[in-house]
Formats: sequence, structure tokens, C-alpha cells
Amino acid sequence: MSFTINVNGSTHSVDVDGDTPLLWVLRDVLGMTGTKFGCGMALCGACTVHLDGSPIRSCITSIDSIGGSSITTIEGIHATATGARIQKARIDREVPQCGYCQSGQIMSASALLASNPSPTDADIDDAMSGNICRCGTYVRIRQAIKQAAAG
Ligand code: FES
Ligand code: FES
Repeated sequence: MSFTINVNGSTHSVDVDGDTPLLWVLRDVLGMTGTKFGCGMALCGACTVHLDGSPIRSCITSIDSIGGSSITTIEGIHATATGARIQKARIDREVPQCGYCQSGQIMSASALLASNPSPTDADIDDAMSGNICRCGTYVRIRQAIKQAAAG
């Protein structure tokens, strides 16, 4: 079945089954491998992308549920004001270790700042609680979000 989706401002036509997860379409059909597969069950956050600006788990989001919504991935987040600030702060704070979780972390953090420019520690913990980092970079993740929020 053919679907037309908008990813990072570009339109793509893809021919896949309707129940195909968006994560599979991004990685295997469109070759956008920045979004990661972790658990496949909405438990780790590695696959987080934005749908109309809100973070979603692309591993459990079927392609036929997207409709005309705009998708933003890690490949396009630098073009948003909050995404650019989050990415710079993560470099400044040397947040990543292995890096595997970081795409999803950046997507959740940038969505948080877009909706809440001055998040408290509790706001950050709440927004980021679904993004698991096996390397334990949580302290620096929070520091980077606060730096990005400070501008
Ligand atoms: S791969 Fe989607 S939440 Fe883990
Ligand atoms: S940096 Fe390694 S899992 Fe988060």
C-alpha cells in the first residue's frame, strides 16, 4: 500500500503494509538511521521522533495512523530553535557516552523546551523519564537541558 508522509519538511511516498511501524519506514525504507531501535515496545525511548511537534515512540506508531501529520527526526531537529540549542548544549556538556540513546533523548528534550521554556527539575524528570540511558548520563542530560533553557 502506498503512503505519503512528510519527514523533516520533505514529502516521501512509501510502499509498505499499513501496520508497518514508522521506525521501520524511517530506517529501512528512507535510510534515516539516526532514529534508533531499542526495545520495540515503547519502553526505552530510543526511537523517539516528533509528530506535529510532540514526541512519540516510532516503534509502535503504524504508518497508517500518521495521516497528514508532520514528522521530525533527529536528522531534522537542528533546524528547530530548541533542537539546535539542545544539540549545542549536549556537545558543550559532553553528554553522550556510547551515544545509542541520544537521538531519542534529544527529541524528547527539544519537545520539552518547545512547550516549556523554563522547566523545573521535576518537569525535566517527567519529560525524560521514558528515555533510558544504559550509560547513566542522566546528570549531564539534565545539565544540558538547563543550559539550553538558559539560552
Ligand atoms: S525502540 Fe521504541 S521505545 Fe524502545
Ligand atoms: S549514552 Fe549510552 S545508552 Fe545513553
